[in-house]
Amino acid sequence: MVAVADVPVGGGVILRDRGVVVTQPAEGEFRAFGAVCPHRECVVRSIAAGTVNCLCHGSRFRITDGSVAGGPSPSGLPEHDVVVVDGMVALRP
Ligand code: FES
Repeated sequence: MVAVADVPVGGGVILRDRGVVVTQPAEGEFRAFGAVCPHRECVVRSIAAGTVNCLCHGSRFRITDGSVAGGPSPSGLPEHDVVVVDGMVALRP
């Protein structure tokens, strides 16, 4: 789905076409979350300073577990299980 090397440590990438955010909170630790903000269903737009950010109304979600770090979202981003195979991060089928 995405190469390990393309996911910044302490940050992540937003795969808009897949509707998924992949983060690497610590070296070698990967997480994946749904990219649709639970507030009004905008797709999240940026990752900075440890949070995934929805620019529609300012909700922020922690890269560690998708939980709400600020803004109006009533809940966090849903988490998906991931596997790392041959240098690629993929969703667990
Ligand atoms: S839709 Fe994301 S903060 Fe409102």
